[in-house]
Amino acid sequence: MNKIIVAIDGYSSCGKSTMAKQLAARAGYTYIDTGAMYRAVALYCLRNGLMTADKIDIDGLKQHIADIKIEFRTNAEGKTETWLNGENVESQIRTLEVGTGASRVSELKFVREFLVAQQKAMGKQKGIVMDGRDIGTVVFPEAELKIFVTARPEVRAKRRYDELRAKGETLSFDEVLASTIERDNRDQNRAESPLKQAPDALVLDNSTMTPAEQNEWLEKTFVGKASKC
Ligand code: DC
Repeated sequence: MNKIIVAIDGYSSCGKSTMAKQLAARAGYTYIDTGAMYRAVALYCLRNGLMTADKIDIDGLKQHIADIKIEFRTNAEGKTETWLNGENVESQIRTLEVGTGASRVSELKFVREFLVAQQKAMGKQKGIVMDGRDIGTVVFPEAELKIFVTARPEVRAKRRYDELRAKGETLSFDEVLASTIERDNRDQNRAESPLKQAPDALVLDNSTMTPAEQNEWLEKTFVGKASKC
């Protein structure tokens, strides 16, 4: 079976990364979480005074963008973690603040160009599962398998709320739902590479699916596609 590119796009907190990670592990493919790259840029901005609640220092970020080195390294348990300029930032990038910051920096064309070039290079050898918002439309429009994942906002907000509470963040469900809807709006309506379904993508609405049902669907879809390539 030839190796293919699997592009998984969709809304925030719809379980894309969990399913992408599991598929990559089963198929012996490399998993790439492009959201983590936008989150790392946001963390860099927050730490270096380039982003406040209402403003991004665009000139400052342009000047420093080439200093941002993002890597994915595998830890002792085989889990991929995000490193920013030589520091493991996997847990720091998973907060609501950094997620909102990532959504804001992802609107900037030069940030997208900077990250998309790296994402394209990572997929040259194929054998990757990449998840994000623009993978099937911009990064790999030629991907052999494209999946667009969606779920109702309330379902996604509940998943994110449970995750954040488990990590000790003290937020109300309404705050998380409002942030989910705000992020959806920004992701879908930005001028640069907005979140949209590629015409040849398969849609997966997992609002009422269990993780096991979802994995079974993905496995079947992947094997069906990869065996023809
Ligand atoms: O998937 P995530 O929640 O970790 O992504 C964080 C933000 O990054 C999200 O609000 C949109 C942005 N993003 C993007 O614009 N393009 C991608 N390929 C991945 C993420």
